[in-house]
Amino acid sequence: MTEPLVRVAGLHKSFGSLEVLKGVDLEIGAGEVVVVFGRSGSGKSTFLRCINFLEDPTMGTIEVAGIKIAAGSPTRFRRKQIQSLRKTCGMVFQQFNLFPHMSVLDNVMEAPRRISGDSAKDVKDHAMALLADVGLADKAAEYPIRLSGGQQQRVAIARALAMKPQVMLFDEPTSALDPELIHEVLSVMRSLAKDHSTTMIVVTHEMGFAREVASRMCFFHEGVILEQGTPEMMFDGSRLPETQRFLNAVM
Ligand SMILES: Nc1ncnc2c1ncn2[C@@H]1O[C@H](COP(=O)(O)OP(=O)(O)O)[C@@H](O)[C@H]1O
Ligand SMILES: [Mg+2]
Repeated sequence: MTEPLVRVAGLHKSFGSLEVLKGVDLEIGAGEVVVVFGRSGSGKSTFLRCINFLEDPTMGTIEVAGIKIAAGSPTRFRRKQIQSLRKTCGMVFQQFNLFPHMSVLDNVMEAPRRISGDSAKDVKDHAMALLADVGLADKAAEYPIRLSGGQQQRVAIARALAMKPQVMLFDEPTSALDPELIHEVLSVMRSLAKDHSTTMIVVTHEMGFAREVASRMCFFHEGVILEQGTPEMMFDGSRLPETQRFLNAVM
């Protein structure tokens, strides 16, 4: 593997006396798709949120695209580093969190307009291209409330891509969707992985997607990565009883 794009080392996170992450190490190369799975409460969301400093780690270091930040107290320099690191990460949440008072196109253009420094025309052309990629070019002028959940989540993906991130973080992106809308979101994610070689960390229990798309799967258990490997290793190979029990429960 060439230099990893994401490097998490010795990551610990506590909320008060509750230790949620108990030493997580993970290196991810460019173009890898890492699926994170595990029981509710095992620390998956906290892990993703630490990567872009939505949560401040208690201990450890995070490095994304050459920007390396250790746990520590907020200094002006550190805040600037965190801002830079955040630009390299796009995040998609379970709840789509679109701006309700903005059109679909304005949702996608909002961050690059404010932050990227690109011309208005470039920002708009890129946003329209992203909406075409997620199959929603014809909805550019609509407001989010007029879209289905699956369409809203695809807009949220386009919005996260608008800042040209180097890694995409997905936190259970299909868990809030009606079953018949899940596949359209997974198919956009599959295309990001396969056609665009997007580096992604995906928390999901969609094991069909994991089997097909993941280069690696990480089983979170009580704040550590208890087991990791290729989908073949996870689904077919020998594994720990905790992993086995979990996979049996979700499949
Ligand atoms: N902001 C917070 N303050 C206090 N406890 C939290 C906070 N965020 C998460 N937790 C706790 O951390 C644990 C792990 O949560 P989370 O990372 O959301 O797990 P998962 O995504 O695997 O379900 C849970 O016990 C949760 O209640
Ligand atoms: Mg979660």
